[in-house]
Amino acid sequence: MASPSLIAAIVILVGFTAYAKLFWRPALHPKAPPLTHGVYPIVGATKFFTRRWDFFRNAARASSTGNFSFFVGPKLVVGLTAESSRQVFFDNRHFGFAEGYGGLAEGFSVLFGPSAEASKAAKKLEEQLAAAGNDAKKRQEAEDRMNFSKFFNSRMVRVLRTDAMQRNLPKLVGDVRARLGDLAAAIPNKGFTDEAVVDPFEDIFKIAFQLTIRSVGCGDIAEDTELMGRMMHWYHLVDSLTSPTAVMYPWIPTWGMIKRTMAGMKLFEIVKKIGDERLRTGKRGEDAMQIMMDQGDDMGNIVGFVVSGLLAGTINSGVNASWILVFLSLNPQWMNKVRAEVEAAISKSATTTDPNATMVEKLASLPLESWETEFPTIEVCLRECIRLTATGATFRRNISGQDIQVGDEIVPKDAYVAYHFNDTHQDPSIYPNPTKWDPGRYSEDRAEDKKKQYAYLGWGVGRHPCLGMRFAKLEQYLIVAFFVTVFDYIACDSKGNPITTPTPIDLNAFSARRPEPRVYLKYKLKEQI
Ligand code: HEM
Repeated sequence: MASPSLIAAIVILVGFTAYAKLFWRPALHPKAPPLTHGVYPIVGATKFFTRRWDFFRNAARASSTGNFSFFVGPKLVVGLTAESSRQVFFDNRHFGFAEGYGGLAEGFSVLFGPSAEASKAAKKLEEQLAAAGNDAKKRQEAEDRMNFSKFFNSRMVRVLRTDAMQRNLPKLVGDVRARLGDLAAAIPNKGFTDEAVVDPFEDIFKIAFQLTIRSVGCGDIAEDTELMGRMMHWYHLVDSLTSPTAVMYPWIPTWGMIKRTMAGMKLFEIVKKIGDERLRTGKRGEDAMQIMMDQGDDMGNIVGFVVSGLLAGTINSGVNASWILVFLSLNPQWMNKVRAEVEAAISKSATTTDPNATMVEKLASLPLESWETEFPTIEVCLRECIRLTATGATFRRNISGQDIQVGDEIVPKDAYVAYHFNDTHQDPSIYPNPTKWDPGRYSEDRAEDKKKQYAYLGWGVGRHPCLGMRFAKLEQYLIVAFFVTVFDYIACDSKGNPITTPTPIDLNAFSARRPEPRVYLKYKLKEQI
């Protein structure tokens, strides 16, 4: 039995350690931007979690340079605003991307953190590093492979190359047609005057999920409705179980964090089972997983890539594809332009030789090049949706080992840096009437997005542009072009009553989010699918 004094000593030690861990903060460097209001002991800036955009906007207004410091738990964060700081944020090579998101974005560890398998792979590569001895080239190769974000980015570029996109296109078209076929089948009586109501943030979201898993993952999941349903279930859990504590003090095991980690593990399990089966049986797929397997990549890393790719790709794509359809229904002049654009692309580039081909079959026969060049109207509609939905902050960390100069101030070594997308996208001096959906902003005569350096951030700028942009645009074009061809529809509430004003986009949201209350679409068949 332990003596009472030993127990007391342990209690005091544990208490002191916890106290020190909770109350310790680095001293603020005198040249760092001033500490903003509303930063409390232990938790730091609570509004960073409760009303993020209001917090950034008010802190910037209260600071003479527009820059400010705050704490998230014990982590020092410098918030940057204004044009010159924005440029440093996106261009400075010492601001680490994975390191920034890893420390401040909830759930990033599930996204990009190593799975148990990836950790094993890292260990194996560590052995390879030791074996490489002084051979610089071999060491570099081994190191590159150990760095998951480097691996992730290089494989993202590889699996979304033109040859892979071309090979995938018929399957992507097939997926979109099949899901729209499900919607057509849901119309009671199925006549051309009969109607049904759909929640696009559910059903269109599902299409984006399916196209993403097909393009950065494996066909086995995209082609198995039951498996895809399970993946979506775990995906939504990972995405929804957010907890400020996990960001402030990741070493405290909260229930939400445990559930989230378990949901992440389920995702890993599903993908790994498919990969292991291929390894065991020699069965092949025609997909991203196979490309990586053929390159000899480690299965742990492949699984990490697929799950992370799915999480990185789906939310923005699913939310924006849904919003475009909603906004088009509320803006008939843009709907007409989009429909005219689709018809023009069909007349110009359909490759089917069947004289009886339907509009949908003709659309399905467009080659990749046409999809990528003949939809500039859908492109500006998407651009405008992204401007409105990209509401969160973006993060980096100063990994230079030194302070970094920003104007007359500094970002201290090891500090995090945050920039809020709304600082640009909701700036009325760049985008007049900024909450209005108005794709005409990007016309040559208005060119609002070119008014200043980095005035449009929707696809990322500087050192970290979106690596999935080409595929993301293609999937939006596919979804929108097929949907407006097959259906006539209006925006409505859950009961099918028409609406003229949708739920406003929450500017305080951390990222693109599905609106609550939801916006629905009442649709009827326009063309046979
Ligand atoms: C409408 C859809 C999408 C939007 C609006 C979007 C937007 C962005 C933005 C703004 C960034 C830069 C973030 C920052 O600077 O902090 C980014 C980065 C990235 N995106 Fe996307 N994205 C979309 C779809 C996708 C898809 C489908 C994928 C892949 C499947 C993808 C993969 C990536 C990756 C890997 C990065 C990080 C690049 C790096 O580390 O340098 N994105 N995206």
